Amino acid sequence: MAINGVHTAIFGVDDVELCTRFFIDFGLEVDTATAEFTDFKLPEGSHVILRHKDDPSLPAPYIEGLGAREVIWGVDNAESLKEIEAELSRDRKVTRDTDGTLRTIDDYGLAIGFRVFERTLLSAQEELINSPGRSVRWNKHRQWFRQAKPQLIHHVVFGCNDLDKAINFYRNRLKFRITDIARDRGVFFRAEGRSDHHNLFWAKTGKAQFLHISLGVENIDELLAGANHMQRQGWQSKLGLGRHRISSTLYFYITSPAGGEAEYSADTDCLNDDWQPRIWEPLFGNQHWVAALPPFLEKLPDEDVKLLADERPDLAGVVR
Ligand SMILES: [Fe+2]
Repeated sequence: MAINGVHTAIFGVDDVELCTRFFIDFGLEVDTATAEFTDFKLPEGSHVILRHKDDPSLPAPYIEGLGAREVIWGVDNAESLKEIEAELSRDRKVTRDTDGTLRTIDDYGLAIGFRVFERTLLSAQEELINSPGRSVRWNKHRQWFRQAKPQLIHHVVFGCNDLDKAINFYRNRLKFRITDIARDRGVFFRAEGRSDHHNLFWAKTGKAQFLHISLGVENIDELLAGANHMQRQGWQSKLGLGRHRISSTLYFYITSPAGGEAEYSADTDCLNDDWQPRIWEPLFGNQHWVAALPPFLEKLPDEDVKLLADERPDLAGVVR
């Protein structure tokens, strides 16, 4: 039952045209578009779909406000799809579309689905970075980027008021790995068939909300090109550029008219089942360097990180 990432994130928005422009500026390519919806396809084969929030084809909202109304998870093969169908049918209604996509809800009431996802293999140029005392790139420039072209969906993030539901459903029922925990703040989940630090993050914000979608670019150069282009187009970032300590991810978040934020991300830690989950002091885990210290960070907190196994042995390890 290997879930291999977000196949499709379907947004309910109040202005499809404006949101289409936002994601085109962000670097996504339109696959199909009508007056009712826009379907973007990323190079890995995943999709971001925009529909009007009142579109009757959208499922009932879990979230308050705008954002991702449904997440379709990719799975590695038809056998995995059957396993998920059997597992979730034990305690909820699971339907199957004519194209084979399963649809149901998670324990929060968020609409989710599953379909076979044969991800397109991605490739990146070799990184040659010169440093004092280490000269590795001779007589040539680094690759130039004019604009970012995200290649994959790294993760989606939702708010809730009860993290146990996420742990019980995504870890125990769908075999996501807990990769790290921000103490009393949120749980990072890695899909069984992926190596990114996290493909799903549930944050304890006290309300049902969509927070952001993270779209992966090749490296810091592409991330900076995207950040600069978006700001030139008039889109704004509250946090600016930074790197998360918890996952090493380089980030640039942009406030999205589709709800929450859209994040460029690069250089995320890759993990496998040898990884030992940790519990982090939330603010320390979140910020490494930021252009403008946000109001909730009057000073950078001291380091506080412990192995999850030491504090919460009931949550440690992976589900096999
Ligand atoms: Fe993120």
